[in-house]
Amino acid sequence: MLETLEAQYADALEALAASDSSEALDAWQSAWLGRRGAITASLRATGQLPQETRAAWGKRANEIRQLLTHAQEEREEAICAAELLLDLESGFIDVTLPGRQRQAGGLHPSTRILREFARIWGEMGFQVYRSRDVETDEYNFQYLNFPPHHPARDMQDSFYTTTPGVILRTHTSPGQIRAMRDLGAGGTRPLRVILPGMCYRYEQITARSEVQFHQVEGLAVGRGIRMTDLKGTVAAFARRMFGENARVRYRASYFPFTEPSMEIDVECFLCDGAGCRVCKYSGWLEIAGSGMVHPTVLRNGGYDPSEWSGFAFGMGPERSAMLRHDIHDIRYFWGNDLRFLEQF
Ligand code: DAH
Repeated sequence: MLETLEAQYADALEALAASDSSEALDAWQSAWLGRRGAITASLRATGQLPQETRAAWGKRANEIRQLLTHAQEEREEAICAAELLLDLESGFIDVTLPGRQRQAGGLHPSTRILREFARIWGEMGFQVYRSRDVETDEYNFQYLNFPPHHPARDMQDSFYTTTPGVILRTHTSPGQIRAMRDLGAGGTRPLRVILPGMCYRYEQITARSEVQFHQVEGLAVGRGIRMTDLKGTVAAFARRMFGENARVRYRASYFPFTEPSMEIDVECFLCDGAGCRVCKYSGWLEIAGSGMVHPTVLRNGGYDPSEWSGFAFGMGPERSAMLRHDIHDIRYFWGNDLRFLEQF
């Protein structure tokens, strides 16, 4: 009985070896393994066979179908390779055509600049502290020395949630309180952290202001930290970020959570201070708000301000990226336009 099957198998292999083109292979497939193919017919015949031979026949017929399927695949590969070679030789495939460019993903410009900030501050001994995006009014304002109903709150218009007193943070400064309470061990340990994160403000969206943007907050708390420490530290950062010759200047300012407070400018790196469109012909670019941590804020963080002091600063990475790459509209950052993103 089984000899019939073996003979069929041998014939099929022979026919396969003789198939030397894709068309011939297709024909072989329908003749042997297709719906009306010989092997398919033999398999189908299993049911009609007498009980004694049925099992052995079915088993072998199945094996043969698998072996042939495998042999067909191998043959197909060989034929494809041979046909490709023919195409190449006949000049049908033009190997001098340029290759197709592959699209590779890239990091978002904000991610890049955030990583650069974290690397530089990390080298200077500041660890990254992640604080929450959803804050309470206490942390976002009160503990930072914004008294209730004080007009300083209008500096930053908030997004409110449906839970009273719960808002989206308008700046990364509330993370100062959380870091002090979390890492300060009850006001007994010095601290050096940066707090990168997204901030949210209920504002008109324009080329210069978005409703969401990153900030990188910095905080150092210790015994005997003075304003000169802040100035030296920021100057060192500026040299690493903007180049060895970067000069920095400070302007008096006001923030409720620092006293004294100042605005930090870096000499315009596009025109080297000569004055250009980007620095609005002033020669200087604003890079951060900063100051000495207000005693009330230290106290709210668990430190005794008669023994401990600190400095803080807040930087805008999107602003830095805009200055560096001459980007004129902040809306590009969250617009998800590939033509913008692909440039980085
Ligand atoms: N939180 C301020 C803002 O959003 C930025 C800032 C200013 C942060 C001075 C500071 C600081 O830590 O000392 O505008």
